[in-house]
Amino acid sequence: MDLMLKLRPSFFFSFLIFIFLLQKPNLGSASSPKCISTERQALLTFKQSLTDPSGRLSSWSRPDCCKWRGVCCDRRTSYVIKIDLRNPNQTLRRNGEFRNGSLGGKIHPSLTRLKFLSYLDLSSNDFNFTEIPEFVGHIVSLRYLNLSFSSFSGEVPASFGNLSKLESLDLYAQTFSDDLFTMNLRASKLGWLSGLSSSLTYLNMGFASLSGAGENWLQDFSRLSKLKELHLFNCELRSLPLSLPSSANLKLLEVLDLSRNYFYSPTPNWLFDLTSLRKLFLQLVRLQGSISPGFKKLKLLETLDLSKNELSGEIPAVLGDLPRLKYLDLSENSFQGQIHRFLDALSKNKGNSSLLSLSLMFDRLDGTLPESLGALRNLHILDLSENKLSGSVPKCMGNLTAIVQGKSVDEYYEYQEIRDSINLSGNNINGEMPVEILDLTYLRILNLSRNSVAGSIPGNISKLGHLETLDLSRNRFSGAIPQSLAAISSLHTLNVSYNKLEGSIPKQLKFKDPSIYAGNELLCGKPLSKKCARKQQDVVVN
Ligand SMILES: *[C@@H]1O[C@H](CO)[C@@H](O)[C@H](O)[C@H]1NC(C)=O
Ligand SMILES: *[C@@H]1O[C@H](CO)[C@@H](O)[C@H](O)[C@H]1NC(C)=O
Ligand SMILES: *[C@@H]1O[C@H](CO)[C@@H](O)[C@H](O)[C@H]1NC(C)=O
Ligand SMILES: *[C@@H]1O[C@H](CO)[C@@H](O)[C@H](O)[C@H]1NC(C)=O
Ligand SMILES: *[C@@H]1O[C@H](CO)[C@@H](O)[C@H](O)[C@H]1NC(C)=O
Ligand SMILES: *[C@@H]1O[C@H](CO)[C@@H](O)[C@H](O)[C@H]1NC(C)=O
Ligand SMILES: *[C@@H]1O[C@H](CO)[C@@H](O)[C@H](O)[C@H]1NC(C)=O
Ligand SMILES: *[C@@H]1O[C@H](CO)[C@@H](O)[C@H](O)[C@H]1NC(C)=O
Ligand SMILES: *[C@@H]1O[C@H](CO)[C@@H](O)[C@H](O)[C@H]1NC(C)=O
Ligand SMILES: *[C@@H]1O[C@H](CO)[C@@H](O)[C@H](O)[C@H]1NC(C)=O
Ligand SMILES: *[C@@H]1O[C@H](CO)[C@@H](O)[C@H](O)[C@H]1NC(C)=O
Repeated sequence: MDLMLKLRPSFFFSFLIFIFLLQKPNLGSASSPKCISTERQALLTFKQSLTDPSGRLSSWSRPDCCKWRGVCCDRRTSYVIKIDLRNPNQTLRRNGEFRNGSLGGKIHPSLTRLKFLSYLDLSSNDFNFTEIPEFVGHIVSLRYLNLSFSSFSGEVPASFGNLSKLESLDLYAQTFSDDLFTMNLRASKLGWLSGLSSSLTYLNMGFASLSGAGENWLQDFSRLSKLKELHLFNCELRSLPLSLPSSANLKLLEVLDLSRNYFYSPTPNWLFDLTSLRKLFLQLVRLQGSISPGFKKLKLLETLDLSKNELSGEIPAVLGDLPRLKYLDLSENSFQGQIHRFLDALSKNKGNSSLLSLSLMFDRLDGTLPESLGALRNLHILDLSENKLSGSVPKCMGNLTAIVQGKSVDEYYEYQEIRDSINLSGNNINGEMPVEILDLTYLRILNLSRNSVAGSIPGNISKLGHLETLDLSRNRFSGAIPQSLAAISSLHTLNVSYNKLEGSIPKQLKFKDPSIYAGNELLCGKPLSKKCARKQQDVVVN
């Protein structure tokens, strides 16, 4: 009864909204924003100084500027509130299509006449390494400013300190010029950040050089008390302060990316006070020492990328205590020790591990793969390649439920699509391939190359019906290549070279490149030429 009473008013309210929505098209056209003529003039002046080879601004001549492509006006007041001129051809970056779709030329100060402009997106265009005009900092109504990927150069204007309402600032400065690693945009003085301290929630200055900002850069960023995301990827930062100033206020920070800066430093303890962190990217920053137990304080952490550093020692069990961890990349460090200790810790909440992706490639881990691995029920990506692992492929692999069931992952591994894959290449793994591995129905990539796995390739391997890549090269597989391999229609890459395989190559197998069969005792079947030798190191196809 109580519930009914509570529901009723809200139902009535929804009904009103429903009626209102029904009316909206009429209301809309009756009072649709009519462009204010001084604003129209300002926009026309702005357009005239731009270059627009693909004619994206061709609608910018009609009487009502509120209907121009990329322009939005306030419904009530008709003032221009939004300009979105982002290059629509995002995915075609760095090719001619992208370049042709780019706007260029000069940004005209007439923009400052738009007194209510709150959203300006000029990203993914080509301003040919001109400077960001100082007057952009005078559009004080801005809440959203995106100048990323647009080939600006020079110093970020100090006038940005006037943008006291700005919530989102994207200055990501990678360009599509040929030389990807030239730093064009600079921020040598960061004092202007203080003007944004009570509004900014998102800041990206990736590929802008902060080398002139000196040792105190962190102090300047740490005043941004509303900040939730800070991206400083590849900013030529040279020092990582070991303590935060007492004035620091980054309690709300959820995403921190400091990748590709050269710190040569241990992991500073202040990181562990950022207890709202969900994603932490510290790839290729020359972190030294071991992984600090402090990480256990970051209870909300989902993504941890410490790859390509100089970290050593054992991988501590504390990482297994992070209840929400999904992506863990510790590859290309110098971690040592028995892998099972760490995997046991990761999977100790049996079946409840949130981990989707685990990458430990190019470390120095040894020992055997434990049965506890099977408890990582949400795992989609396992890369343990290029270590010193021994023992056999454990049967528990068949318990990697996510791959067995093809559980979908809506998210992307940051920039990379989730592709169910197991890579154990470049270890000392021996024994036979367990048939349980054939339960991994949705596995797309299986790489066991450069190990000592023996026995036959399972005859019913076609159970891996979604397999795209199978690399079994440089092992001790013997027996025949199973016919059923030809039944996997998704398979596009195969390598079985340098094993002890015998018999003939199944006729139906579509792979004709003789080098993928080289170094076996195979007789040459139909796909290969008559010249095919018994030892196939140097076969040729006609
Ligand atoms: C870009 O424009 C040039 C000149 O207008 C044209 O020759 C070229 O084909 C265009 N390239 C693409 C990819 O559209
Ligand atoms: C974007 O690319 C499509 C083709 O993929 C092309 O038709 C369109 O004209 C391009 N847009 C711009 C603004 O260049
Ligand atoms: C800025 O624009 C780029 C595309 O040009 C987009 O990828 C990026 O997410 C935008 N930044 C923000 C903060 O919305
Ligand atoms: C870009 O700027 C350079 C000089 O810095 C100039 O030579 C070139 O013509 C400009 N390109 C375009 C497309 O405006
Ligand atoms: C904006 O910033 C500049 C430089 O920081 C300053 O000189 C100027 O007075 C400010 N303008 C406004 C409108 O606040
Ligand atoms: C796994 O999660 C369930 C429900 O969230 C909980 O009841 C169970 O105790 C957990 N098991 C372990 C071993 O933590
Ligand atoms: C796989 O999981 C099942 C229960 O889901 C369990 O009985 C079995 O022991 C597990 N096998 C391995 C090898 O871990
Ligand atoms: C292992 O395989 C995965 C999936 O194909 C791949 O992303 C990764 O780069 C491979 N590892 C190495 C060391 O090549
Ligand atoms: C298998 O992994 C190794 C890295 O250890 C890599 O070099 C090789 O290219 C991978 N095989 C395939 C087919 O991707
Ligand atoms: C696959 O083949 C192996 C022997 O080659 C057998 O032990 C296993 O039961 C087979 N699995 C299925 C599901 O047919
Ligand atoms: C197949 O594997 C061998 C040994 O791992 C490697 O040398 C060769 O390049 C691979 N062949 C192809 C076509 O990838």
